[in-house]
Amino acid sequence: MTISVSANPANIQLAAKLLRQGKLVAIPTETVYGLGADAKNPEAVKRIFAAKGRPAHHPLIVHIPDKAALTDWAIEIPETAWKLAERFWPGPLTIVLKKHPDVPMEVTGGQNTVALRVPNHPVALSLLKVFGGGVAAPSANRFCRISPTQASHVEEELGDKVDMILDGGACVVGLESTIVDLSGNQPRLLRSGQISKTEIEQVLQISLEIPEKDAQIHAPGRMEVHYAPITTTYLCSAEQIKVIQKGFAFKHVHKLGVIAYSDAVKPDENSELVRMSANQERYAHDLYGKLRDLDKPAIDMILVEQPPQSEVWQAVNERLSKAATKFSLRTDTDFEQNDSEELKTILGWLDAVLRLAC
Ligand code: TXA
Ligand code: MG
Repeated sequence: MTISVSANPANIQLAAKLLRQGKLVAIPTETVYGLGADAKNPEAVKRIFAAKGRPAHHPLIVHIPDKAALTDWAIEIPETAWKLAERFWPGPLTIVLKKHPDVPMEVTGGQNTVALRVPNHPVALSLLKVFGGGVAAPSANRFCRISPTQASHVEEELGDKVDMILDGGACVVGLESTIVDLSGNQPRLLRSGQISKTEIEQVLQISLEIPEKDAQIHAPGRMEVHYAPITTTYLCSAEQIKVIQKGFAFKHVHKLGVIAYSDAVKPDENSELVRMSANQERYAHDLYGKLRDLDKPAIDMILVEQPPQSEVWQAVNERLSKAATKFSLRTDTDFEQNDSEELKTILGWLDAVLRLAC
């Protein structure tokens, strides 16, 4: 049976002991919960992939206690890496560098680079210190599902596949770290996060490249479908949500889950409405938990009001576009390839409603 325990000093000692034995410990970080194993123990690392159902070629992030530990994990560390580490660590930034020969290939998915981060969470930092090594930890969810932002989410996701869950409360940031690749000639932004592209560019005085989608098959964070609820989820405008709500009220059969940040979206009897903050940090903090709450059999479809397109919303928008399909009138061919019969009917009907309304 899984033990979710409070992250007191005795349990942190116990967690370090479990890591040394090659076991899996879920740890709180400021971004999301991670599924941790001793990064120098290939057998332990393999257990992470098995627990998550994650393909072995997808590399993991190694969590280290401080920037001084960088030299244990990476070689040919550029000045840019030291600058970013100095400015943003501990914090929600992951840096990809050329790997040290001692880093097992199991951690890096067979690549010659390694992703490193110093998390800004007292429990994670204290565990790293007591453990005295690097902890490989992807988000503690099953592959392609919503990342956990509370200990109870980890329990739902992984149950007894993890040997201990250190409960450090709700994650403050709520979205995964920004990832910057400094292993090549040109710095590249592999994943958006709370630390923005502009903030990084200001420190480096260099502009970041954004690689083409297809060029990054090794980064699951860049796959089209990721962070996805089971329930079909659509990104829509407030206007579209209103029309669909009306249509559902007319039909009286289906229940909608609605996530909205503006007052333009109103509650109605056929919708379970989740009001989000219009403040991006607050929104990011709440998003995964709210998506998880609505992802239940009683809800037929989740509609998310599209947040603003400005840079501060970049990380949220990136996650939402992966969790959801953008609501649009689609062709029959799309239906055949992607959707179940039931969804085909619902969407066909919604198309008709929208045509009447727009
Ligand atoms: O906030 C976070 O980053 C959380 C917490 C637990 O630290 N971790 C997390 O891990 O989101 P994960 O495995 O879910 O996502 C790690 C991302 C993946 O997209 C992976 O492909 C990328 O980091 N990554 C890891 N090593 C890499 C490498 N050598 N080159 C390129 N991308 C890499
Ligand atoms: Mg993940």
